[in-house]
Amino acid sequence: MLRRFFAIAVSMPTTCVVGILWGDEGKGKVIDFLAADTDFVVRFGGGHNAGHTLVLPSGKLVLHLVPSGIVHPHTVNVIGNGVVVDPVHLCGEIEKLQARGLRIELGRNLLLSERAHVIVEAHRRQDQWAEALRGAGRIGTTGRGIGPAYSDRCARVGIRLGDLLDEKRLRAALQALVEQKNALFGSAGMPPLDLDAMCAQLFAAGDRLRPGIVDAGAVLRRAHAAGKRILLEGAQGCLLDLEHGTYPYVTSSHASTGGAFSGTGLPPHAMTVVGIAKAYSTRVGEGPFPSELKGEIGDRLRTAGNEFGSTTGRPRRCGWFDTVAVRYSGAVSGATELVVTNLDVLRGFGPLRLAVAYRMPDGVRTEDMPAFDLASAEAEYVELPGFDEDVRGVRRFQDLPRNAQAYLQAIEQHTKLRIRTISVGPERDQVIPR
Ligand code: IMP
Repeated sequence: MLRRFFAIAVSMPTTCVVGILWGDEGKGKVIDFLAADTDFVVRFGGGHNAGHTLVLPSGKLVLHLVPSGIVHPHTVNVIGNGVVVDPVHLCGEIEKLQARGLRIELGRNLLLSERAHVIVEAHRRQDQWAEALRGAGRIGTTGRGIGPAYSDRCARVGIRLGDLLDEKRLRAALQALVEQKNALFGSAGMPPLDLDAMCAQLFAAGDRLRPGIVDAGAVLRRAHAAGKRILLEGAQGCLLDLEHGTYPYVTSSHASTGGAFSGTGLPPHAMTVVGIAKAYSTRVGEGPFPSELKGEIGDRLRTAGNEFGSTTGRPRRCGWFDTVAVRYSGAVSGATELVVTNLDVLRGFGPLRLAVAYRMPDGVRTEDMPAFDLASAEAEYVELPGFDEDVRGVRRFQDLPRNAQAYLQAIEQHTKLRIRTISVGPERDQVIPR
């Protein structure tokens, strides 16, 4: 019955789910829901920097690279060409999921784009070295080699998953990469990379993944033409998007809807875009966050929402809901509706605040997202009464406390986005449709 709640979202054959702020909005739960009525679930960007948490009857499951549809036996899961894949991590993740009893058959319910770029040990090393060099200006990356892998893709020295299937081709591609990296690492006093060892490790991983490595774009285009239902699973969030996010404090992929086309090979046909936002804001790593709560309320919110990164375990920074940022991301991503998660966490946090504008260092007030000086922007708020009731058991909007209803309506008014679904707890059925 719960699937009906999302009927609007899945009425178009292709639906794209994106995080509206800096990731960790609860996309895993929403995708798990939508996947029940979907033929394909496709990751289009990011890598194992992502952590999508699902709460299943058998317990909590955190996915990093494998799409969230993997828990549904009928769903084909695709890692698209826009994802950067650490093949050693992927083999380990598949094994862990299989040990949990999930059926994963490469080539059947898990497909990997042969065009997806590969993360190698050198990328992780370079990521951590670059962060150390940045010192106080560090981005706070996950240290998993994401940025350097995407940089090498742009620099045209990257390795693609399809390269792992042919030892000669792999060695030739690796040779060029290793030469460049060794020049860099040598100048930084780091030991050189061992081409033979890298080649052997990657070829072995490629051999393991071989049945799943396909022309995923062609598979998806055929599926799309046949009217199959495709769910595009965003990773991170719009404000971590390389182009539209809070640059340079962003990830290195196109986390907003733009990446859904380039990262899958699907054409930009009609698609529903669903934005996911928490009932408050969080951010992991460095970078501007105008509505951040640095004191006691922020600490309480972190504890109440268990706001610790599912990939790195780092405490998440917490803050009030920011309607400026959400309106901007909604417009950039083309979201037509919003799912608001973690409403239950706000119990007892009244009075609640919504950021509605920024005051810039030169005194100018803006309701637009500035490209510069966001770190010095002061958020301007409206205040609303809070609620003290436990909402985890509520299943109808009209049964929510009046103040919670008014809070959500104020979000709609300021963001210009319709809230269609509200999540009031981590369990699958803790959902309120509208
Ligand atoms: P990178 O993606 O590891 O290069 O990290 C760049 C920024 O994106 C850092 O601030 C990370 O904390 C953040 N980031 C990357 N992936 C995620 C995610 O899945 N959720 C939240 N933040 C993320």
